[in-house]
Amino acid sequence: MKEIEIIKPDDWHVHFRDNEILKAVVPETTRHFVRSIVMPNLIPPILNARQAIEYKKRIKKAIPAKDSFEPLMTIYLTEKTNKNELKDAYNSGAVFAVKLYPAGATTNSESGVKDIKKVMPVLEAMAKIGMPILIHGEVTDKEIDIFDREKVFIDQKLDFICKELPELKVTLEHITTKEATEYVKEGNKNLVASITPHHLALNRNAIFVGGIRPHNYCLPILKRETHRQALIKVAMSSNPKFFLGSDTAPHLKKYKESDCGCAGVFNTTYCMQILAQIFENHNCLSNLENFTSINGANHYKVNINKQKIKIIRKNKPIKFEDKLKINDEEILIFTPDFPVYWEVIT
Ligand code: NCD
Ligand code: ZN
Repeated sequence: MKEIEIIKPDDWHVHFRDNEILKAVVPETTRHFVRSIVMPNLIPPILNARQAIEYKKRIKKAIPAKDSFEPLMTIYLTEKTNKNELKDAYNSGAVFAVKLYPAGATTNSESGVKDIKKVMPVLEAMAKIGMPILIHGEVTDKEIDIFDREKVFIDQKLDFICKELPELKVTLEHITTKEATEYVKEGNKNLVASITPHHLALNRNAIFVGGIRPHNYCLPILKRETHRQALIKVAMSSNPKFFLGSDTAPHLKKYKESDCGCAGVFNTTYCMQILAQIFENHNCLSNLENFTSINGANHYKVNINKQKIKIIRKNKPIKFEDKLKINDEEILIFTPDFPVYWEVIT
Protein backbone atom coordinates (compact mmCIF):
# COMPACT_ATOMS: atom_id res chain seq x y z
CA MET A 1 0.00 0.00 0.00
CA LYS A 2 1.34 3.39 -1.03
CA GLU A 3 0.66 6.49 1.00
CA ILE A 4 1.56 10.16 0.75
CA GLU A 5 1.24 12.98 3.21
CA ILE A 6 0.56 16.48 1.95
CA ILE A 7 -0.32 19.87 3.37
CA LYS A 8 -4.09 19.99 3.80
CA PRO A 9 -5.50 21.61 0.64
CA ASP A 10 -7.50 24.74 -0.11
CA ASP A 11 -10.16 24.99 -2.78
CA TRP A 12 -9.97 28.40 -4.42
CA HIS A 13 -13.41 28.33 -6.11
CA VAL A 14 -16.59 26.87 -4.61
CA HIS A 15 -20.34 27.45 -4.85
CA PHE A 16 -22.10 26.81 -1.55
CA ARG A 17 -25.52 28.28 -2.49
CA ASP A 18 -27.81 28.93 0.49
CA ASN A 19 -30.40 27.38 2.86
CA GLU A 20 -30.88 23.59 2.63
CA ILE A 21 -28.34 23.09 -0.15
CA LEU A 22 -25.73 25.08 1.77
CA LYS A 23 -26.24 22.91 4.87
CA ALA A 24 -25.74 19.75 2.84
CA VAL A 25 -22.77 20.78 0.69
CA VAL A 26 -20.57 22.72 3.13
CA PRO A 27 -19.51 19.58 5.11
CA GLU A 28 -18.56 17.88 1.83
CA THR A 29 -15.95 20.61 1.28
CA THR A 30 -14.81 21.15 4.87
CA ARG A 31 -13.86 17.46 5.22
CA HIS A 32 -10.74 17.83 3.06
CA PHE A 33 -10.17 21.58 2.64
CA VAL A 34 -8.99 24.25 5.06
CA ARG A 35 -10.12 27.33 3.12
CA SER A 36 -12.28 28.10 0.12
CA ILE A 37 -13.05 31.16 -1.89
CA VAL A 38 -16.84 31.25 -1.94
CA MET A 39 -18.59 32.48 -5.07
CA PRO A 40 -21.15 35.28 -4.70
CA ASN A 41 -23.62 34.24 -7.44
CA LEU A 42 -26.60 33.72 -5.15
CA ILE A 43 -30.04 34.97 -6.08
CA PRO A 44 -29.82 37.89 -5.38
CA PRO A 45 -25.99 38.11 -5.56
CA ILE A 46 -23.63 39.17 -2.76
CA LEU A 47 -22.97 42.81 -3.62
CA ASN A 48 -21.44 44.33 -0.49
CA ALA A 49 -19.56 43.64 2.75
CA ARG A 50 -22.73 43.49 4.84
CA GLN A 51 -24.19 40.73 2.67
CA ALA A 52 -20.85 38.88 2.59
CA ILE A 53 -20.63 38.95 6.40
CA GLU A 54 -24.19 37.60 6.75
CA TYR A 55 -23.52 34.88 4.19
CA LYS A 56 -20.29 33.92 5.94
CA LYS A 57 -22.25 33.44 9.19
CA ARG A 58 -24.68 31.10 7.45
CA ILE A 59 -21.78 29.10 6.02
CA LYS A 60 -20.04 28.90 9.41
CA LYS A 61 -23.17 27.46 11.00
CA ALA A 62 -23.02 24.59 8.51
CA ILE A 63 -19.39 23.62 9.29
CA PRO A 64 -19.24 20.37 11.31
CA ALA A 65 -17.61 20.81 14.74
CA LYS A 66 -14.78 18.41 13.85
CA ASP A 67 -13.63 20.53 10.89
CA SER A 68 -11.70 23.77 11.03
CA PHE A 69 -12.52 25.73 7.91
CA GLU A 70 -12.41 29.30 6.75
CA PRO A 71 -14.73 30.61 4.04
CA LEU A 72 -13.12 33.47 2.12
CA MET A 73 -15.83 35.77 0.87
CA THR A 74 -16.26 37.51 -2.46
CA ILE A 75 -18.29 40.35 -3.84
CA TYR A 76 -20.05 40.17 -7.18
CA LEU A 77 -18.83 42.97 -9.44
CA THR A 78 -21.43 45.05 -11.26
CA GLU A 79 -21.15 48.24 -13.24
CA LYS A 80 -22.46 50.01 -10.13
CA THR A 81 -19.93 48.65 -7.62
CA ASN A 82 -18.55 51.49 -5.53
CA LYS A 83 -14.74 51.44 -5.33
CA ASN A 84 -14.55 53.12 -1.93
CA GLU A 85 -16.96 50.62 -0.40
CA LEU A 86 -14.94 47.83 -1.97
CA LYS A 87 -11.70 49.15 -0.49
CA ASP A 88 -13.30 49.32 2.97
CA ALA A 89 -14.67 45.80 2.56
CA TYR A 90 -11.19 44.52 1.70
CA ASN A 91 -9.29 46.48 4.32
CA SER A 92 -11.69 45.38 7.07
CA GLY A 93 -11.05 41.72 6.15
CA ALA A 94 -14.76 41.07 5.47
CA VAL A 95 -14.14 40.40 1.79
CA PHE A 96 -11.22 38.53 0.24
CA ALA A 97 -11.73 39.09 -3.48
CA VAL A 98 -14.09 40.27 -6.21
CA LYS A 99 -15.73 38.10 -8.85
CA LEU A 100 -16.23 39.33 -12.39
CA TYR A 101 -18.95 37.58 -14.39
CA PRO A 102 -19.56 38.87 -17.90
CA ALA A 103 -23.35 39.46 -17.88
CA GLY A 104 -25.13 36.28 -18.95
CA ALA A 105 -22.01 34.08 -19.09
CA THR A 106 -23.17 31.46 -16.58
CA THR A 107 -25.52 30.53 -13.70
CA ASN A 108 -26.97 33.65 -12.00
CA SER A 109 -24.78 36.11 -13.87
CA GLU A 110 -27.51 38.42 -15.19
CA SER A 111 -26.29 41.39 -13.15
CA GLY A 112 -22.68 40.90 -14.23
CA VAL A 113 -20.53 43.24 -16.29
CA LYS A 114 -21.61 44.19 -19.84
CA ASP A 115 -18.83 46.66 -20.62
CA ILE A 116 -15.40 46.03 -19.07
CA LYS A 117 -14.45 49.69 -19.59
CA LYS A 118 -17.12 50.71 -17.09
CA VAL A 119 -15.40 48.75 -14.29
CA MET A 120 -11.83 49.81 -15.06
CA PRO A 121 -11.79 52.47 -12.31
CA VAL A 122 -12.82 49.81 -9.78
CA LEU A 123 -10.17 47.39 -11.09
CA GLU A 124 -7.58 50.15 -10.90
CA ALA A 125 -8.47 50.80 -7.25
CA MET A 126 -8.20 47.06 -6.57
CA ALA A 127 -4.78 46.88 -8.21
CA LYS A 128 -3.57 49.65 -5.86
CA ILE A 129 -4.58 47.80 -2.70
CA GLY A 130 -3.69 44.28 -3.93
CA MET A 131 -7.29 43.02 -3.93
CA PRO A 132 -7.64 40.01 -6.26
CA ILE A 133 -10.14 39.82 -9.12
CA LEU A 134 -11.44 36.38 -10.12
CA ILE A 135 -12.67 36.28 -13.68
CA HIS A 136 -15.15 33.99 -15.40
CA GLY A 137 -13.34 34.21 -18.73
CA GLU A 138 -15.97 33.76 -21.41
CA VAL A 139 -17.54 36.23 -23.80
CA THR A 140 -21.30 36.04 -24.01
CA ASP A 141 -21.98 37.08 -27.61
CA LYS A 142 -24.39 34.55 -29.00
CA GLU A 143 -22.60 34.70 -32.39
CA ILE A 144 -19.43 33.31 -30.82
CA ASP A 145 -19.31 29.52 -30.81
CA ILE A 146 -19.69 28.20 -27.26
CA PHE A 147 -16.39 26.27 -27.59
CA ASP A 148 -14.52 29.48 -28.53
CA ARG A 149 -15.86 31.80 -25.84
CA GLU A 150 -12.86 31.46 -23.52
CA LYS A 151 -10.30 32.06 -26.24
CA VAL A 152 -12.20 35.09 -27.53
CA PHE A 153 -12.49 36.48 -24.00
CA ILE A 154 -8.72 36.23 -23.59
CA ASP A 155 -8.08 38.01 -26.89
CA GLN A 156 -10.74 40.71 -26.54
CA LYS A 157 -11.07 41.36 -22.79
CA LEU A 158 -8.43 39.74 -20.60
CA ASP A 159 -5.51 40.97 -22.65
CA PHE A 160 -6.87 44.52 -22.38
CA ILE A 161 -7.23 44.25 -18.58
CA CYS A 162 -3.77 42.75 -18.10
CA LYS A 163 -2.08 45.35 -20.30
CA GLU A 164 -3.90 48.29 -18.70
CA LEU A 165 -3.37 47.02 -15.15
CA PRO A 166 -0.32 44.74 -14.92
CA GLU A 167 -0.29 45.16 -11.12
CA LEU A 168 -3.83 43.76 -10.73
CA LYS A 169 -3.93 40.27 -9.19
CA VAL A 170 -6.02 38.30 -11.70
CA THR A 171 -7.21 34.71 -11.51
CA LEU A 172 -8.55 33.39 -14.79
CA GLU A 173 -11.01 30.92 -13.30
CA HIS A 174 -11.63 27.30 -14.32
CA ILE A 175 -9.54 27.43 -17.49
CA THR A 176 -10.41 24.94 -20.21
CA THR A 177 -8.21 25.63 -23.24
CA LYS A 178 -4.65 25.31 -24.45
CA GLU A 179 -4.79 29.02 -25.31
CA ALA A 180 -5.58 29.86 -21.69
CA THR A 181 -2.66 27.78 -20.41
CA GLU A 182 -0.33 29.57 -22.82
CA TYR A 183 -1.68 33.05 -22.15
CA VAL A 184 -1.34 32.60 -18.37
CA LYS A 185 2.13 31.03 -18.58
CA GLU A 186 3.42 33.88 -20.70
CA GLY A 187 1.45 36.63 -18.95
CA ASN A 188 2.65 38.94 -16.20
CA LYS A 189 3.41 37.56 -12.75
CA ASN A 190 0.09 38.70 -11.27
CA LEU A 191 -1.93 36.60 -13.70
CA VAL A 192 -2.71 33.04 -12.55
CA ALA A 193 -5.35 30.39 -13.31
CA SER A 194 -7.47 27.88 -11.46
CA ILE A 195 -8.29 24.44 -12.85
CA THR A 196 -11.16 22.07 -11.96
CA PRO A 197 -10.93 18.29 -11.48
CA HIS A 198 -13.63 17.68 -14.09
CA HIS A 199 -11.77 19.61 -16.78
CA LEU A 200 -8.72 17.45 -15.99
CA ALA A 201 -10.78 14.25 -16.08
CA LEU A 202 -13.09 14.76 -19.05
CA ASN A 203 -13.17 16.07 -22.59
CA ARG A 204 -16.27 17.20 -24.46
CA ASN A 205 -17.18 13.68 -25.59
CA ALA A 206 -18.33 13.12 -22.00
CA ILE A 207 -21.35 15.35 -22.65
CA PHE A 208 -22.58 12.96 -25.36
CA VAL A 209 -21.71 9.39 -24.37
CA GLY A 210 -24.52 7.29 -25.90
CA GLY A 211 -26.96 10.16 -25.30
CA ILE A 212 -26.97 13.57 -23.68
CA ARG A 213 -25.28 13.71 -20.25
CA PRO A 214 -26.55 16.80 -18.44
CA HIS A 215 -24.40 16.12 -15.38
CA ASN A 216 -21.28 16.74 -17.44
CA TYR A 217 -22.58 20.10 -18.62
CA CYS A 218 -20.73 22.98 -17.00
CA LEU A 219 -19.39 26.37 -17.99
CA PRO A 220 -16.95 26.92 -19.47
CA ILE A 221 -18.07 23.85 -21.40
CA LEU A 222 -15.73 20.84 -21.64
CA LYS A 223 -13.38 21.10 -24.61
CA ARG A 224 -11.54 18.76 -27.02
CA GLU A 225 -8.99 16.22 -25.81
CA THR A 226 -6.07 18.40 -27.00
CA HIS A 227 -7.20 21.09 -24.56
CA ARG A 228 -7.59 18.61 -21.71
CA GLN A 229 -4.05 17.42 -22.40
CA ALA A 230 -2.78 21.01 -22.17
CA LEU A 231 -4.52 21.45 -18.80
CA ILE A 232 -3.04 18.18 -17.55
CA LYS A 233 0.40 19.33 -18.60
CA VAL A 234 0.29 22.62 -16.67
CA ALA A 235 -1.47 21.17 -13.63
CA MET A 236 1.15 18.40 -13.35
CA SER A 237 4.05 20.77 -13.97
CA SER A 238 4.22 22.49 -10.55
CA ASN A 239 4.13 25.84 -12.33
CA PRO A 240 3.16 28.20 -9.47
CA LYS A 241 0.64 30.03 -11.68
CA PHE A 242 -1.80 27.08 -11.73
CA PHE A 243 -3.81 25.70 -8.82
CA LEU A 244 -7.00 23.97 -7.80
CA GLY A 245 -10.33 25.76 -7.94
CA SER A 246 -12.84 22.90 -8.07
CA ASP A 247 -15.80 25.06 -9.18
CA THR A 248 -17.96 22.59 -7.27
CA ALA A 249 -21.39 23.78 -8.37
CA PRO A 250 -24.36 21.92 -6.86
CA HIS A 251 -27.71 21.93 -8.62
CA LEU A 252 -30.65 19.69 -7.73
CA LYS A 253 -30.89 16.67 -10.04
CA LYS A 254 -34.27 17.83 -11.34
CA TYR A 255 -32.78 21.14 -12.50
CA LYS A 256 -29.86 19.42 -14.24
CA GLU A 257 -32.14 16.89 -15.95
CA SER A 258 -34.48 19.36 -17.57
CA ASP A 259 -35.26 20.79 -21.00
CA CYS A 260 -32.96 23.70 -20.07
CA GLY A 261 -30.55 22.08 -17.61
CA CYS A 262 -28.33 24.13 -15.29
CA ALA A 263 -24.56 24.31 -15.82
CA GLY A 264 -22.36 23.00 -13.02
CA VAL A 265 -20.66 19.88 -11.69
CA PHE A 266 -20.85 19.02 -7.98
CA ASN A 267 -17.40 17.56 -7.47
CA THR A 268 -16.16 18.43 -4.00
CA THR A 269 -16.83 15.04 -2.36
CA TYR A 270 -14.17 13.07 -4.30
CA CYS A 271 -12.13 15.99 -5.56
CA MET A 272 -8.91 15.03 -3.75
CA GLN A 273 -9.24 11.31 -4.45
CA ILE A 274 -9.76 11.99 -8.17
CA LEU A 275 -6.86 14.44 -8.34
CA ALA A 276 -4.54 11.97 -6.60
CA GLN A 277 -5.49 9.38 -9.21
CA ILE A 278 -4.93 11.74 -12.14
CA PHE A 279 -1.56 12.86 -10.76
CA GLU A 280 -0.55 9.24 -10.20
CA ASN A 281 -1.67 8.27 -13.71
CA HIS A 282 0.76 10.88 -15.02
CA ASN A 283 3.58 9.91 -12.63
CA CYS A 284 3.34 13.32 -10.97
CA LEU A 285 2.04 12.48 -7.51
CA SER A 286 4.89 14.44 -5.97
CA ASN A 287 3.48 17.60 -7.59
CA LEU A 288 -0.05 17.22 -6.21
CA GLU A 289 0.71 19.25 -3.10
CA ASN A 290 1.87 22.26 -5.11
CA PHE A 291 -1.37 22.24 -7.07
CA THR A 292 -3.76 21.76 -4.15
CA SER A 293 -2.00 23.27 -1.15
CA ILE A 294 0.77 25.73 -2.05
CA ASN A 295 0.44 27.63 -5.34
CA GLY A 296 -2.92 29.23 -4.58
CA ALA A 297 -1.92 30.31 -1.07
CA ASN A 298 1.21 31.92 -2.47
CA HIS A 299 -0.71 33.82 -5.12
CA TYR A 300 -3.30 35.07 -2.62
CA LYS A 301 -0.55 35.88 -0.10
CA VAL A 302 -1.99 33.83 2.74
CA ASN A 303 -0.14 31.37 4.98
CA ILE A 304 0.40 27.82 3.81
CA ASN A 305 -1.79 25.55 5.96
CA LYS A 306 -0.15 23.80 8.93
CA GLN A 307 -2.43 20.75 8.92
CA LYS A 308 -1.59 17.65 6.87
CA ILE A 309 -3.65 14.93 5.26
CA LYS A 310 -2.70 11.40 4.27
CA ILE A 311 -3.73 10.02 0.93
CA ILE A 312 -3.60 6.24 0.78
CA ARG A 313 -3.63 3.96 -2.24
CA LYS A 314 -6.03 1.05 -1.75
CA ASN A 315 -5.69 -2.33 -3.41
CA LYS A 316 -9.14 -1.99 -4.95
CA PRO A 317 -10.88 1.02 -6.50
CA ILE A 318 -12.81 3.03 -3.92
CA LYS A 319 -16.61 2.86 -3.93
CA PHE A 320 -18.39 6.12 -4.65
CA GLU A 321 -21.58 7.45 -3.14
CA ASP A 322 -23.39 8.85 -6.12
CA LYS A 323 -25.92 11.17 -4.47
CA LEU A 324 -26.23 13.74 -1.74
CA LYS A 325 -29.72 13.87 -0.24
CA ILE A 326 -31.39 17.24 0.30
CA ASN A 327 -34.71 16.43 2.03
CA ASP A 328 -36.74 14.76 -0.74
CA GLU A 329 -34.40 15.96 -3.46
CA GLU A 330 -30.89 14.94 -4.47
CA ILE A 331 -27.71 16.26 -6.02
CA LEU A 332 -25.55 13.94 -8.11
CA ILE A 333 -21.94 13.69 -6.97
CA PHE A 334 -19.30 13.80 -9.70
CA THR A 335 -17.51 10.50 -10.16
CA PRO A 336 -15.07 9.89 -13.02
CA ASP A 337 -15.23 7.19 -15.69
CA PHE A 338 -11.91 5.67 -14.54
CA PRO A 339 -11.11 3.74 -11.35
CA VAL A 340 -9.85 5.73 -8.35
CA TYR A 341 -7.66 3.88 -5.84
CA TRP A 342 -6.87 6.79 -3.53
CA GLU A 343 -8.61 7.53 -0.25
CA VAL A 344 -8.08 10.54 2.02
CA ILE A 345 -7.40 10.12 5.74
CA THR A 346 -7.68 13.32 7.76
C1 NCD B 1 -21.51 27.68 -11.89
C2 NCD B 1 -22.77 27.69 -11.02
O1 NCD B 1 -23.56 26.76 -11.15
O2 NCD B 1 -22.94 28.60 -10.21
N1 NCD B 1 -21.70 26.78 -12.99
C3 NCD B 1 -20.74 26.22 -13.76
O3 NCD B 1 -21.07 25.53 -14.72
N2 NCD B 1 -19.47 26.35 -13.48
C4 NCD B 1 -21.18 29.06 -12.31
C5 NCD B 1 -19.79 29.22 -12.85
O4 NCD B 1 -18.81 29.13 -12.11
O5 NCD B 1 -19.66 29.45 -14.05
ZN1 ZN C 1 -17.96 28.66 -10.52
